[in-house]
Amino acid sequence: MTEKSLLPRHVAIIMDGNGRWAQKNRVSRLAGHNAGMLAMKEIIKRADVLGIKYLTVYAFSTENWKRSAEEVGGIFGLLVKYVASELAELDENNVKVHILGDYGSIPRAAAASIEKALATTRDNDGLQFNIALNYGGRQEIVRAVRQICYLVENGELSGADVDEQLIAAHLYTGTENQDIPDPDLIIRTSGEERLSNFLLWQCAYSELAFSDSLWPDFTPDEFERIVRDYASRERRFGGR
Ligand code: FPP
Repeated sequence: MTEKSLLPRHVAIIMDGNGRWAQKNRVSRLAGHNAGMLAMKEIIKRADVLGIKYLTVYAFSTENWKRSAEEVGGIFGLLVKYVASELAELDENNVKVHILGDYGSIPRAAAASIEKALATTRDNDGLQFNIALNYGGRQEIVRAVRQICYLVENGELSGADVDEQLIAAHLYTGTENQDIPDPDLIIRTSGEERLSNFLLWQCAYSELAFSDSLWPDFTPDEFERIVRDYASRERRFGGR
């Protein structure tokens, strides 16, 4: 067994490969995303069993709007379906849902589902499930800089007050007195090895792990293997 204190507190996942899975299985791209949603459900459960405190998934990036209207609508439709079928169980399991990203500009039904999930799970203190939705790392940093500039223009801060902590506090991971710790481990599936604008500020010292599995094929056992492998790595944070 791995000592609990060695396990990552925060794991973030780039759930990549739904489209290729769909192609391989000769089904529609939307059926691929649906299979991806089922995989995600199982990973949340295993993360909870393992005692991971924060799980973040990249569900929709600011770049994903470039996909066909049908696919974009389908992904948000899945989100509505997911919340309708899973919210009660998430709540029973004490899971707290949180959103990273600008969900104000997503389709209304999806935004309403999100509001409901946030309100229902607001006081839960088990696993925190962060959904990165209409999220982009550079956009997140621009938003933080704008907020800080506004405070400086209003004389509430001076330029000399700007430090790492202040910037972090204005990111999606730092607002609402949440202070989500930086991800200890970032996993990307489907054999691609890049970050694609995900948690650019927060990933400074994250360990990275890549899996060749397409996301819908990614199993809780593989997830657990990666998490336990992380526990055996030595992290130095730039020190010796
Ligand atoms: C990447 O695969 C996946 C996405 C852009 C969407 C992820 C969405 C889900 C797993 C389901 C819905 C999520 C929630 C929170 C209900 P891709 O389409 O880029 O795959 P490809 O690179 O093989 O084309």
